[in-house]
Amino acid sequence: MKKLVLIALVLGYVAHAGAADSSAAATPPMGWNSWNHFACKVTAADVRSAADAIASNGMRDAGYIYVNIDDCWEGVRDEKGGIQANQKFGDMKALVDYVHGKGLKVGIYSSPGPKTCAGYEGSYGHEEQDAQQYADWGFDYLKYDWCSAERVYPRSQMSEVYKKMHDALVRAGRPIVFSLCQYGYGRVWRWGASVGGNLWRTTEDITDNYDRMSVIGFDQDGLEPFAGPGHWNDPDMLEVGNGGMNHDEYLTHMSLWALLAAPLLAGNDLSKMTPETLSILTNGEVVAVDQDVKGAQGRRVAQEGPIEIWAKPLADGSTAVGLFNRGESTNPITLSFKDIGVQGSGKLRDLWQHKDLGSFRGSYTEEVPRHGAILIRVQ
Ligand code: GLA
Repeated sequence: MKKLVLIALVLGYVAHAGAADSSAAATPPMGWNSWNHFACKVTAADVRSAADAIASNGMRDAGYIYVNIDDCWEGVRDEKGGIQANQKFGDMKALVDYVHGKGLKVGIYSSPGPKTCAGYEGSYGHEEQDAQQYADWGFDYLKYDWCSAERVYPRSQMSEVYKKMHDALVRAGRPIVFSLCQYGYGRVWRWGASVGGNLWRTTEDITDNYDRMSVIGFDQDGLEPFAGPGHWNDPDMLEVGNGGMNHDEYLTHMSLWALLAAPLLAGNDLSKMTPETLSILTNGEVVAVDQDVKGAQGRRVAQEGPIEIWAKPLADGSTAVGLFNRGESTNPITLSFKDIGVQGSGKLRDLWQHKDLGSFRGSYTEEVPRHGAILIRVQ
C-alpha cells in the first residue's frame, strides 16, 4: 500500500513538473479584454475607462479583475531592441499603475512571430527582453498569439516556442498568467499546461453572432478532462453586450461559458453598457458556477435534435445543469435526473432567476425559448 502511494506521488510530481503555476489561475481568469469591441482602435483612454467602469459598476466585486490590452498597442523597438508602446498608448507604466490603483490587474498581448495578427511588432527574437519589459511595466497577464509565427516556425515546434516565452516570464520574476492563443492547433489541451499555459484557446475567433458562438461553445464537449485549477480550456472571450445577439442568446452564451469553466473576459464597451448586459455579466450565482473551486469543466449529458443538456459537477456535491434550446421555436426540455447521476428526488434552483423551484422526483421539465437557456443547480 505504502509503495503504491509513493509511486502515485512520484507520478503526480512528474506529471506536474514544468506545468502551469496553478496558484496563478486557480479558477478561470475573469476580466475584460479590448479586442471584441475596440479591435485595433483601442487607446489607453479606452483601457482607463474600462478600468474605471469595472471598479465602480460591481464587476470587480463579482470577480472581473483583469483589464487586458489586446493587439495594437505596440510601437517600434528602440535602438537596444526594447519594445515601446505606440502613440495611442504612450506611457505604459503610467497606464498599468492607473489600473492597479483601482484594485485590478492588467494584461498585455504579443506574438511569438515577427508580427502580431494585426501586423504590429511581435516578440520573435526578443522574447527575454519583452518578458522583462512586461514585468517591469507591471503586467500580470500575457496573451501570446501565434499569428505570423506560422511563417517562421514549423507547427511541430509550437510547444517549444510557447515554453520559451513561459520560461522568459518566469525569469522576469513577476507572476504573470500565461494565455496561449493558437486556436487549438496541435490539440493544445494535451500539452498547454506542460509548457506553462494557464489557459489556451481551443478554437478560432468568436464573433458576436449566435451561430458562431454556439458552434464554438457546443463543440467543447470532450475537452473536459484537460481543464482544472491553473490550466483552462479557453473557447474565446465573451461577446455579451456587443449587440449582435438577443437576450436569450446572450443567456445561452454566458450559461454555456460558466458550465465550461471558461475564462470570463468581457469583450464589450464597459463604459456604455446597458443594465441588462451588466446583470448578465454579474449574476453572482451564474459566475459562481464558472468559478467553482472544484474546477471541473462541464460536458454534454443529453442531446435530442436542437435540445442539449450540459452538466458541471460542483465542489459541494451539487450539479449545475444547462437546458439549451438551439431550435427556432420554444421547446419543452426534460432533464432526466439519471443523466446527471441523481437517484430519486432533487432540489432545484434557477440560477438566473435566483429562485428555488422545489423538489422533483426523477425529472424536471421546462419550456425554453428559441436559442435560450435555463441554468439550474440540482442538489
Ligand atoms: C487573433 C486572436 C484574437 C485577437 C486578434 C488580434 O485573431 O485570435 O483574439 O487577439 O488576433 O489581432
